[in-house]
Amino acid sequence: MRKTIILLGISTLLLGSTALAQSALPYWAYPVASHAWPQPDPKQPLRLPGTKITFTVAGTNDRFNVPDWYPNSHPKMPAIVAHGRKPDVFACGYCHLPNGQGRPENASLAGQPADYIVQQVAEMRSGARKSSSDKMGSINAMMAVAKASNDAEVKIAADYFSTVKFAKWIRVVETDYESLGVDTPVTLKSDNPADLFKSDVNIQNLFLLEETLKKLEPPHWPEDVLGAIDQAKATQGAALYKQHCASCHDVGGKYTNKPVPPAEIGTDRERMDTWIQAAADEANRRVKEMGINRPNMVKIEGYQSPPLDGIWMRAPYLHNGSVPSLRNLLEPVEQRTKVFYVGYDVYDPFNVGFVTQGPQAERVGWKRDVSVRGDGNWGHNYGTGLTDAEKISLVEYMKTL
Ligand code: HEC
Ligand code: HEC
Repeated sequence: MRKTIILLGISTLLLGSTALAQSALPYWAYPVASHAWPQPDPKQPLRLPGTKITFTVAGTNDRFNVPDWYPNSHPKMPAIVAHGRKPDVFACGYCHLPNGQGRPENASLAGQPADYIVQQVAEMRSGARKSSSDKMGSINAMMAVAKASNDAEVKIAADYFSTVKFAKWIRVVETDYESLGVDTPVTLKSDNPADLFKSDVNIQNLFLLEETLKKLEPPHWPEDVLGAIDQAKATQGAALYKQHCASCHDVGGKYTNKPVPPAEIGTDRERMDTWIQAAADEANRRVKEMGINRPNMVKIEGYQSPPLDGIWMRAPYLHNGSVPSLRNLLEPVEQRTKVFYVGYDVYDPFNVGFVTQGPQAERVGWKRDVSVRGDGNWGHNYGTGLTDAEKISLVEYMKTL
């Protein structure tokens, strides 16, 4: 089994060997607590810096009595903002905060024009404004508030929030090393601090993560769960793969990891077209401005041909996830699936991909429709002319990658 090649730019040579000493799985990288913390005493008064006000745990969670830690930081809240209306209209200030700046998972309303606020809530109520996902609790809660509230209440809240001044409040910092490191040599160690790039990233941990990633193998087809691989068919499939696919997909193949021009690959070109020369120029300019030396980014025509390690587990396929299974990718475009649901985790060992049709898939999945702009499932016609028996053998072999 070949290892998946992960191209990460930070070179081992640039780091000291101390980072290597720690070889265990980096648990700090996972949002799963390795031990249970003691629960806080529910009656204990909780405090925040810069205020004498205290709340109990229950007080911080009261959706009809906004915990107002800093009452001097905003005008007096109207009742709908501070208390909402039982049972269904949670206080606007609970999620959007008394100063309207909002928590990270919901919007800032401070300083928005009152008309805008009124209109947004009205459109949430009518269904004209919806979220791309119906699975996010905070957004669903907002939709419920919109439906339960009335125009007069929203108008009062809108007038209040529009008078509060907006302040820059959440700062998003990308992990510079990671985004630059993908194709840039970055100096991580030097006796001269002036050589180093300023960042508060924990470099040792980042390095450890990369080393762990490099050691990961693609998951093996679990024969005990999904059924044994038919070795005779897989052997036939290997020959077909070598003949029709390997030059573009095998590690060391002539075109592997190289962009294949649109005229050849023929897949949906929307994504490629969003990366334009002007974007490359701008990225290059900013990087230079930060004082970093790296080869200029360029506009590329085509899609890169990826290695196919662990491909059985990587459905849906193509850069835009527009093809649900390996069997489907080997069908001529007219016969490929046009509407399907992704996100259901039941596996389909015959088609090799996840189950994407039926009531369960529809219930938990996201609808994909290949007629939507950018979601097209055409192109990549390799292997579509093989016989049914050959396709079955080829897919059988691909389970072993
Ligand atoms: C349970 C938490 C919660 C409560 C309570 C709540 N909101 Fe929201 N609100 C949200 C979230 C989350 C969003 C982001 C929705 C999205 O991204 O589609 C949001 C978005 C909004 C927006 C759209 C902002 C924009 O930039 O387009 C408006 C307007 C709004 N809320 C008004 C209100 C009003 C008025 C109330 C009180 C009647 C209220 N909200 C109560 C969570 C809440
Ligand atoms: C001329 C080069 C070329 C040949 C030959 C070729 N492919 Fe591809 N393949 C590509 C490119 C380029 C992509 C990425 C296209 C995209 O995402 O739009 C791709 C994508 C794929 C993917 C999806 C990968 C993913 O992670 O979603 C699979 C599966 C695949 N090819 C299988 C095959 C099989 C099986 C054959 C042989 C029957 C084959 N390819 C022949 C160039 C090729």
